[in-house]
Amino acid sequence: MMRHFGFEGLDEHIAEHEELLRQVVEYQARIANNDGVTLDEVLNFLAAWLLDHTLGKDQLYGPFLSRFTE
Ligand SMILES: [Fe+2]
Repeated sequence: MMRHFGFEGLDEHIAEHEELLRQVVEYQARIANNDGVTLDEVLNFLAAWLLDHTLGKDQLYGPFLSRFTE
């Protein structure tokens, strides 16, 4: 939908999601290797994503999209 409606922040948004995926894959590998990942570390990482991205950048899309639904 972002692409379809020409959301101006699309490239940056995609980059943030790609970085999230990279970090998740890194955690997955570290956990599989028993590399000292703590629950606190993972929870802090997820909380930061939730606060910075989901409650931040994702919220920019709603007002943008509403221009096309009125
Ligand atoms: Fe997002």
